[in-house]
Amino acid sequence: MRIFVYASSMRGEYSKSLKIIKDLIVRLEGLCSVEGCYISTPEKDLIEPCSGCMSCLNTGKCVKDKLDHMETLKEEMMASDLIILASPVYLHNVNGPMKNFLDRLNPWCYTMPLLGKIALPVTVSNTNGNYQVDIYLSKILSIFGAGVLGTLSIKNNLMSKKEKDEAIELLCKYIKEYESGQREFFVSEYQLEYYEQMKRMLNNIEKESRLYQIWKKEGMLSASDFQILFSAKRKEKNENEKC
Ligand SMILES: Cc1cc2nc3c(=O)[nH]c(=O)nc-3n(C[C@H](O)[C@H](O)[C@H](O)COP(=O)(O)O)c2cc1C
Repeated sequence: MRIFVYASSMRGEYSKSLKIIKDLIVRLEGLCSVEGCYISTPEKDLIEPCSGCMSCLNTGKCVKDKLDHMETLKEEMMASDLIILASPVYLHNVNGPMKNFLDRLNPWCYTMPLLGKIALPVTVSNTNGNYQVDIYLSKILSIFGAGVLGTLSIKNNLMSKKEKDEAIELLCKYIKEYESGQREFFVSEYQLEYYEQMKRMLNNIEKESRLYQIWKKEGMLSASDFQILFSAKRKEKNENEKC
């Protein structure tokens, strides 16, 4: 299994969310075969803010991708099986670098390229506001196509070390079960609805358009619902890995 993490704290070695991520990775390495793990942070990778030109929606490319590290980060995500987004809670929201990162992925709402991958939002606060951020990150990962297997929600001043360790342990157990195929992934109601809406929208656009052609090429137009599409993609991925 390959893992991609975007850990958006600006606090480097003092970051509590980065420490949680490091603990989680160590535990996962003990449970599953981890072939690679890319941890991106604002310190390590430059991510320019979205300029709002919307050219990505027409071309599929961002004009800033050549100016910063975003192209590499997208490639790393596409090559990974598990996507983790870890944000400190700032005023009951994600922090600025996480929002910047997600804005740059805006076209992914239309193409759902994380289809078949599993994902985990991680939120770290002092005491409150995690719920709103858990919901937001889960929603965005869902509309990018990923299967969100839960949330790791850490409240530093309210949870003991034992409680934090137990929360990490439980999520690692789920990840192992999904990755080994012991547990089948059930997509959310939200994803079922979103996929239906997207398919209705695609029926009304030019068949020659870039978006229509992507959906056709990826076999995303023919599934009767998102659960069938997601399960088929996971099956295909598992078979390729056996080869
Ligand atoms: C601007 C700002 C806003 C914050 N808002 C909240 C909040 O709404 N709720 C909370 O419990 N903690 C809040 N905090 C505290 C951080 O969530 C907490 O310190 C977290 O551990 C930071 O993660 P990091 O150490 O990985 O950077 C805030 C901190 C800052 C700097």
